[in-house]
Amino acid sequence: MKTILVTGGTGFIGTHTVVALQEKGYKAIIADNLSNSNIDSLDRIEKITGIRPDFMKVDLSNEKECNLLFDTYENIDGVINFAAFKAVGESCEKPIEYYKNNMGILLNVLANMKRKDIKYIVHSSSCTVYGEPDSLPIKESTPTKFAVSPYGNTKQMAEDILHFTTNTTGIKAIALRYFNPIGAHESALIGELPNGTPNNLMPFITQTAIGLRKALTVFGDDYDTPDGTCIRDYIHVVDLAEAHVISMDRFFANKNKANLEFFNIGTGNGFSVLDVIKSFERSTGVKLNYTIGPRREGDVIKIWADTSFAEKELGWKAQKTLDEMTLSAWNWQKAL
Ligand code: WQD
Repeated sequence: MKTILVTGGTGFIGTHTVVALQEKGYKAIIADNLSNSNIDSLDRIEKITGIRPDFMKVDLSNEKECNLLFDTYENIDGVINFAAFKAVGESCEKPIEYYKNNMGILLNVLANMKRKDIKYIVHSSSCTVYGEPDSLPIKESTPTKFAVSPYGNTKQMAEDILHFTTNTTGIKAIALRYFNPIGAHESALIGELPNGTPNNLMPFITQTAIGLRKALTVFGDDYDTPDGTCIRDYIHVVDLAEAHVISMDRFFANKNKANLEFFNIGTGNGFSVLDVIKSFERSTGVKLNYTIGPRREGDVIKIWADTSFAEKELGWKAQKTLDEMTLSAWNWQKAL
């Protein structure tokens, strides 16, 4: 049984990936500082799989704490690195904290992987590295652009660090460039639970629908898109979790073809904000109260993935529809 250290494993994508790892026969260890997640994620994971993951509360950006983590768990075979601050807007207000935290975590993790001769890392990257695309759909070969936020820049810097680190150590890496993860596990025991006011669209929709918020504001309907609202490639978090497990399998089967590989993890479909609202109302039967407001600074107008490389190389393809995503998000919100 291979043992995988999942940093940020009590978070939205982390919990779903730990469940998928355990269901695939991996042993998962979670390291998290609980700054944007809750310790009861461990109970929720155990309720789904019957297996309670080992857990250590760690500030991974602190070198000593990170070293202690890797000294505590000797038999780690691979790492999945989710741990990072991830709010685009907040990163513009607190750039130094974002660089210190996100880069510090990655560097401490890589230093310990080298120290303990751990060879494999799957890293959480983002379509944010592409900026506003000149052509669509986005391929892995689409050139990245100057970031529009410190958050996006930390994702770009992480890929550069992985490039040079894997070329000079025995470490092999896969960077998964997520598009927009939404939805929740069918059990409604795990899902997206942002602290405070949600930044992202889906939790704002479900919190409005359940009455926690008065109305959703659609950030602009005067863009150059069919209905005027921004287009994104929304992907079900369960499909996204599966891509991480398949990436780890790729390492242990020695199928990886380069020290660092990138994969776009999306569905290949672009949906507008109004499409998501219509899907939510269709799949749940709940009418959503929304108004059209001003554009949000830094929003990309339209972006969706060309997923053919991940399908060919990883043998992975997103399975779930937008209606399944919005309904699962609603079931999770109701269960909270
Ligand atoms: C989606 C669309 C908004 C809220 C960011 C990061 C990405 C990833 C996901 C972390 C946009 C519109 C939103 C609202 C709205 N980060 N919207 N009203 O900005 O595409 O991606 O979050 O995992 O790396 O860049 O996601 O959900 O914030 O926005 O109209 O109240 O919904 O304008 O068009 P985004 P989002």
